[in-house]
Amino acid sequence: MSTRTPTRTHPAPDALALLGGAPAVTRPLPHEVWPPPAGEAELAELARQRDTDISIKGSSGPVKALEEAFLGFLDHGARWAVTFNSGTSALLAAYFALGVREGVEVVGPALTYHAALSPVFALRGDVVLADIDPVTRCLDPRALEAAITERTKVVTLVHQWGHPGDVDAVLGLAHKYGLKVVEDCSHAHGSRYRGRPVGTFGDAAVFSLQANKAVYAGEGGVLVTSDARVHDRATLLGHYRDRSREEVTDAALRAHWVTGFGLKLRISPFNAIVARHALAAFPARMAGRHRCLRHLGELLADVPYLEPVRVADHVDMGAWYGYKPLYRPEALGGVDRRVLIAALRAEGLETGAPSGPRLGTLPLYTAPENPLFPGVPKRPSGPMPGSHAEHVERHALSLPTFTDWPGDRPLIEEYAAGFRKIARHADALVRYAAGEGRPTAHPQPA
Ligand SMILES: Cc1ncc(COP(=O)(O)O)c(C=O)c1O
Repeated sequence: MSTRTPTRTHPAPDALALLGGAPAVTRPLPHEVWPPPAGEAELAELARQRDTDISIKGSSGPVKALEEAFLGFLDHGARWAVTFNSGTSALLAAYFALGVREGVEVVGPALTYHAALSPVFALRGDVVLADIDPVTRCLDPRALEAAITERTKVVTLVHQWGHPGDVDAVLGLAHKYGLKVVEDCSHAHGSRYRGRPVGTFGDAAVFSLQANKAVYAGEGGVLVTSDARVHDRATLLGHYRDRSREEVTDAALRAHWVTGFGLKLRISPFNAIVARHALAAFPARMAGRHRCLRHLGELLADVPYLEPVRVADHVDMGAWYGYKPLYRPEALGGVDRRVLIAALRAEGLETGAPSGPRLGTLPLYTAPENPLFPGVPKRPSGPMPGSHAEHVERHALSLPTFTDWPGDRPLIEEYAAGFRKIARHADALVRYAAGEGRPTAHPQPA
């Protein structure tokens, strides 16, 4: 009887980590650490606020300070900034202020975060989805024009993932058809279109200050406008008593100051303090982020199965919320995106698919009547097969928005090495995806 043990094949050191090779990225997760830790001044101010005033009823103290700083951040291109307890609340107030109600349609992009448009349903209005532009990933003006009906009163331009939408074209159509424009700048703090800050073009604009955002409060939102009536109605919806009494200018509206319009949606002073410090740190942090993401983009430019993030010449990416190149499966043997993501994760990269599905796949949007108000009819939206929205949803990859320059530089270079390694081992990945030498089905990224 032979005493030889069976020979085991060891993967080559450069093999895909999925197949037992060494991972390309050596730094342990997480790679995206956001929001950054608080500095001493911020912590001291939070502590002082705790012992002086923990509920601000009007516009004063840290709430007023944040709103003033926000207007400065927008080059004073808008007259008022009104804070709310979330971006979603600020959007509700914006739609309310612009007259959304039963029988009114709002046109918005088919692929974005749902809360950009979902508050419309709480006002009994309806949302009509239009396709996105493949370069900006924002509302496509041609699709917008095709979606307009005599019920359309508002268009929502979301500056998706920090890239400003086609402001000139959207404003032109709004003028032609008598529409109001809401800019959702929740991904686009500091982004500029032809040199001017986003948020200063529409009848109302909203910035979420939720924790992932470049200017973060934890939870919070800001509505900005230069329209006195929008300001008054939005204030009255979310800020009854002191703030409405002090700030609503229209006498008929101010008569409601005690009750407002029934909701209390104000930001807490603590969140306002956090956001103001984030705003102060924004220019230096974003300079770092731009250097990081430019470097990443240059390094990924020759990865054959990636379509790099494109930035139009006339825009400034500001916060650059998320780095999301598109996957080209045809350049990687047709491997499913889930398999690519599993291979990237095995290499130690913090990658995934962007979280939001097309809005036309969500029950709130597909329903034939308003689920909040049974009996209120709406136009059912659908998934729009063959659309750019579908293509981007199915092919986008989400990477960390590196911010620390030069601290993240070695990590960025390891990420690029990880992407290139997969290109070199495309054949092995194709065999893996076909199930060769592997007992389990396709891995399912979370
Ligand atoms: C485009 C967009 N609009 C609105 C919101 C809602 O903001 P919030 O989470 O502050 O309510 C978000 C949040 O991620 C968003 O991404």
